[in-house]
Amino acid sequence: ASAKERILEIVADCRGLEGPLLPILHAVQHEFGYIPEGAKPIIATALNLSRAEVHGTVTFYPDFRDRPAGQHVLKLCRAEACQAMGAHALGDKARALLGVDWHETTADGRVTLEPVFCLGLCACGPAAMLDGELLARLDEESLAEHLTEIRL
Ligand code: FES
Repeated sequence: ASAKERILEIVADCRGLEGPLLPILHAVQHEFGYIPEGAKPIIATALNLSRAEVHGTVTFYPDFRDRPAGQHVLKLCRAEACQAMGAHALGDKARALLGVDWHETTADGRVTLEPVFCLGLCACGPAAMLDGELLARLDEESLAEHLTEIRL
């Protein structure tokens, strides 16, 4: 099926749900790894929403991506308990090491940096998730080591 057909199938599967927009967006991201620009008007038309409403929802929720992620995804916790443990400086360090801002992917396509708001590891922050694996008590040194490892 073409991408458009696949999106229409997802819409058809979910449109009967109450509040179908979020489930549809999650399903589209699951299928494609991100929300393709072209999916927005299709979803908007099907749900009788404006394209701006669909776009607004995609940009509002940090879980949605509007472009494909890099090979590796580093999510750094930016919520309060981790901030108190130095997550802010760690975020600066990660951005400097990777040369990207939040939500961006390195030029070589290797690493995407994303903020996340609490990973449930508040007691041992700063916390992060690298390709789905939880990392606790990160500091600048261990962060740099993890990044070197995945970029080799
Ligand atoms: Fe960072 Fe909870 S605040 S894991």
